[in-house]
Amino acid sequence: MPPLRVVQLSDLHVGTREEPEVEDALRSLVGELDPELVVASGDLTHRNRTGQHDRAARLLRSLERPLLAIPGNHDIPRAPWLRFTSTFDEFLRVWPETEPTHRSEGLVVCGLNSVRAWKQQGGALRRAQIDHVARTFAEAPEGAFRMVALHHHLLGAPWRTAKRTIADRSKVLGALVDAGAELVVSGHVHQSVVCERREFEVTPGLVRATTVVTAPGLGQPRPKRRGEARGLHAFEVYKNALRALTYAWLDGRWALVADRRFPRGREPLALVD
Ligand SMILES: [Fe+2]
Ligand SMILES: [Fe+2]
Repeated sequence: MPPLRVVQLSDLHVGTREEPEVEDALRSLVGELDPELVVASGDLTHRNRTGQHDRAARLLRSLERPLLAIPGNHDIPRAPWLRFTSTFDEFLRVWPETEPTHRSEGLVVCGLNSVRAWKQQGGALRRAQIDHVARTFAEAPEGAFRMVALHHHLLGAPWRTAKRTIADRSKVLGALVDAGAELVVSGHVHQSVVCERREFEVTPGLVRATTVVTAPGLGQPRPKRRGEARGLHAFEVYKNALRALTYAWLDGRWALVADRRFPRGREPLALVD
């Protein structure tokens, strides 16, 4: 039986350039990967325009897979008065909610809205949002893979960037780990970073693995910046392992550039005698 798969697309920034060849190749790749769910982790549009939301939704729906879309900081108005009075109006015209949940026997995904009207670039989560994750995961079927998606990143990026990680990120990450998240994915910074908590945390004994991910961008609004990779992630969920695949757009085609394996559950991948 093929493993359960999830594809993560982030930062589409629809509205910057028309690139039908990228979109056509994306449809083929997603068709091949055949994921249970496609997660779109924010900045679906570049300027929150009506036509851009329509195009982004058309592209995502053309993948013909179940979708979980959450907003990014580019998906709200730029004008200060509109930011507060009609923050998510355009997003909600094409998507049913800003914090969707996907539930199946094998997979539970909580989408979280980390966009704040008073922050231009930064993001934050409230305690109630994390409590919602904990409740949702507590009710998840036994053995289901528990995943969280939000726009603002928790991991620092390799290239210099002015974009800060989510507010109170240590608290947020700790709370999501405590809530039972096995995978936390975000975007915003357009650079891929993937690691498991035991690579950066002192952990007592056999704790449950949590893999934390920042995605490359699918769109490339500032291609002259070195720190702006174009790519996507695919995740394969096994009983005791999680495989994270990074695809990048190279010379007009999608290329697999990283294939990482992480433990799932409490056991490490291997013990060395
Ligand atoms: Fe972005
Ligand atoms: Fe962003």
